[in-house]
Amino acid sequence: MSARERVAGGTASFIDERTGAAKWMKKTLTKVFPDHWSFMLGEIVMYSFVILLLSGTFLTFWFDPSMREVEYEGSYEPLNGIKMSAAYASALHISFDVRGGLLMRQIHHWAALIFMAAMVVHMMRVFFTGAFRKPRELNWIIGVALLTLGIVEGFLGYSLPDDLLSGTGIRIAEAIIQAIPVVGSYLSYFIFGGAFPGEMFIQRIYAVHILLIPGIMLALITAHLMLVWYQKHTQYPGPGRTEKNVVGYPLMPVYMAKAGGFFFIVFGVTAFLGAVAQINPIWIYGPYNPGQIGAGSQPDWYMGWLDGLVRAAPPIETHAFGITISWNILIPGLIIPGIIFTLMAFYPFIEQWMTGDKREHHVLDRPRNNPNRTAIGAMSLTFTLVSLINGGNDLLATHFDLSINQIMWFSRIGLIALPPLAFVITKRICLSLQRADREKVLHGRETGRLVMLPHGEFIEVHEPLSPEKAYVLTAHEQLPALEIGEADANGVANPQGFKGKLRARMSKASQEQISKPTSKEMLELEEGHH
Ligand code: HEM
Repeated sequence: MSARERVAGGTASFIDERTGAAKWMKKTLTKVFPDHWSFMLGEIVMYSFVILLLSGTFLTFWFDPSMREVEYEGSYEPLNGIKMSAAYASALHISFDVRGGLLMRQIHHWAALIFMAAMVVHMMRVFFTGAFRKPRELNWIIGVALLTLGIVEGFLGYSLPDDLLSGTGIRIAEAIIQAIPVVGSYLSYFIFGGAFPGEMFIQRIYAVHILLIPGIMLALITAHLMLVWYQKHTQYPGPGRTEKNVVGYPLMPVYMAKAGGFFFIVFGVTAFLGAVAQINPIWIYGPYNPGQIGAGSQPDWYMGWLDGLVRAAPPIETHAFGITISWNILIPGLIIPGIIFTLMAFYPFIEQWMTGDKREHHVLDRPRNNPNRTAIGAMSLTFTLVSLINGGNDLLATHFDLSINQIMWFSRIGLIALPPLAFVITKRICLSLQRADREKVLHGRETGRLVMLPHGEFIEVHEPLSPEKAYVLTAHEQLPALEIGEADANGVANPQGFKGKLRARMSKASQEQISKPTSKEMLELEEGHH
């Protein structure tokens, strides 16, 4: 036995004799995970969260969360002698006078953008493949909570430096809080500790940003991963993969090595961006002053779509019984996002209700095989994209020489007209792809090779699919639409009323499919060929 083996064995025995960990480790380390590149998206989220915690901790060593007024005396000349909050001065100090400070600030900001982007793409993977279906609904809901917290956390983060851009964002948040009927102004006073901006806001959001939300997120991420572990990972359809098994590689050594390497790739990319791509140059914006606003103020992208909704709202306000309600803020700032996030959280149950399918699913859907769901996803993305475009309407107008009103009207009409259009187009594309799959299974792959037959006719040679490929194209189930009758067994008309009718329509829409080839059709074709 070599010295290295003796040390490793000795350490392992020491730990096992005191904790009994060996049995648990053996079971855990050999756990099998299915393999697919899209499963790495959740990992990117996880790793960027770790980077956020590490870089954020570095920033806390120098950041001063105080609105006390100071005069800047650092090495950034243009702001010398200017009065500002201690928070802003300390953020400038980190940027210009702390070694590696600017790099860390930029890494932290880039990691936040990557974290949010990876989370959205991860969520899209889960949505479009139906990974949220039973038994993973709870994990989906935890995911929606994480997404919501991520948006708030990011917003609070870029509000901390107390520069002109962050103050402008906070001003909008204040307006949204004030728009809540009856309690809004009290709530705003309560949150800001008096009139806006007050003197304690930064220290309050600091506690929430570094302690409360990360703590809740850490707990939720732990629960999220424990559920993935306990419920096992879903897998894509393929030969030998069923609802009852998991086909893949063991955690040790395959995934340990992959995950370890991947962490450093994510860290490397984030650090590279932090080093070469400038982000949030707060010294250019200047200190916050409620009387000023910078031209071209833009929130981070995950807030941009909410800003876009607020920018698109027409100026509607009502005054009644001494109460003013600003619908133009209330609807886009709170009601629409509230509806969107609630529908998102409940989507697994809505789909169950539409399809009547309450069974467990561990094999994923190919997005085309569930055209209705894929179309709903495309519709939601289109809505968000149009509002995001409107969130940058001022920049689009100046960069492309357009009129801001044209962009706003495009967005207003687009927000209503484009999502349904995206729904219809996506559904048709999915059905066409299903038709193409059906053709492929029945008649093989078109090779593009034309052959002239002895009697002069040209035909294209089709190559039969491999059994594995044919399996993947036909493994999915096609459920019939729910039968919710117009009359019950005793002839009583429409016993379920509007709800029943709606469910019948939804079910019909969600089960619209191109029927996949049956074994009978395959046999007939084969006989015909021989
Ligand atoms: C801090 C944020 C998050 C982290 C760190 C995280 C991490 C992960 C990881 C590592 C996995 C396993 C690998 C994979 O399938 O990609 C996973 C699976 C899953 N995540 Fe997330 N996730 C987060 C946010 C979300 C969000 C926003 C949703 C949806 C709303 C979501 C829903 C799910 C579901 C349903 C699974 C199980 C998928 C399956 O078994 O195929 N997660 N997550």
